[in-house]
Amino acid sequence: MTNIAVIGPGAIGGTVSVRLDKASSHSVTVCARSHLTNLTIETTEGRMTSEPKVLVSPEQGRPCNWVLVATKAYNVVPTVAWLRHLMDSETRLAVLQNGVEHVARFAPYVPENRIVPVVVNMPVERIGPGHFRQRGNGHLTVAADFNGDEFARLFLNTGIDVSTTSDFQSEAWRKLALNCAGAVSALVLKPAAIAQRTPIANIMKALVRECIVVGRAEGADLDDSLVESVLDSYRNGPGDAINSIHADRLAGRPIEIDARNGAIVRLGRKHKIETPVNQIIVALLEAAA
Ligand SMILES: NC(=O)c1ccc[n+]([C@@H]2O[C@H](COP(=O)([O-])OP(=O)(O)OC[C@H]3O[C@@H](n4cnc5c(N)ncnc54)[C@H](OP(=O)(O)O)[C@@H]3O)[C@@H](O)[C@H]2O)c1
Repeated sequence: MTNIAVIGPGAIGGTVSVRLDKASSHSVTVCARSHLTNLTIETTEGRMTSEPKVLVSPEQGRPCNWVLVATKAYNVVPTVAWLRHLMDSETRLAVLQNGVEHVARFAPYVPENRIVPVVVNMPVERIGPGHFRQRGNGHLTVAADFNGDEFARLFLNTGIDVSTTSDFQSEAWRKLALNCAGAVSALVLKPAAIAQRTPIANIMKALVRECIVVGRAEGADLDDSLVESVLDSYRNGPGDAINSIHADRLAGRPIEIDARNGAIVRLGRKHKIETPVNQIIVALLEAAA
């Protein structure tokens, strides 16, 4: 039996925990900040509930085969307290977070060859403590290597697709291109339909163009057509869709801006690439939040 610990039972961690617990023979332990009796997801096919083992203190943890981190990217330091108890020299750490710095975030604490970065495409929102709504299919992408293949095997029959790619870096930057444009919605607190307005669409395009230039400097293979495809996904998707930093602002929670537009600015600086539009968005959102 494979022992899996999931740190952070929020929208992504909660959904992954329920699906791994229900559909497999794995032993799933949830690592939370406060006690939960069960986890429930409302899916398009109905309700799924599970009662995995829940730990609320890192000292209760024991080494597992896999640790899946699904906290927000700004919560790395408190997460590390769990890793000390949940990991031994064999444990692999999957990072289910947004951005392009999955490995860099945890490399100070875990050998890089045991860190598995994961691009998450799974529309889930938290509707209460331990209660989530999954609005569409879950899709995870990992690198096509030994750890990536083993990670994909964990999810067999869970209803979450995992694909492997020989170019993980480009995949992560494509997701960042999508996310960075969404910062405009978070700033003005208006859902995706604002992308229909030409002046707003032009700002979103400028954010994505800067992302592409910095991503290419980092080694990602990004086509210019990404600008229009990102805009199309906002214009053609549900107009009332609220992205996660927008939702976090509305709820008064910290926002994950540094891992997104902030990363474009920081990595741009490293390559001496100007990113004025992302800089402005980061400054305004940090001030507003
Ligand atoms: N939601 C989506 O649809 C979606 C889609 C794609 C990618 N992502 C990415 O996936 C990552 C997770 O996002 P999310 O939406 O799942 O966030 P979330 O709903 O805010 O969940 C984060 C969870 O981490 C928990 N947490 C924080 N610090 C902790 C600690 N020290 N120990 C244990 N648990 C801790 C939080 O606890 P509390 O419950 O106490 O707050 C919360 O349950 C982010 O990088 C996000 O950008 C999300």
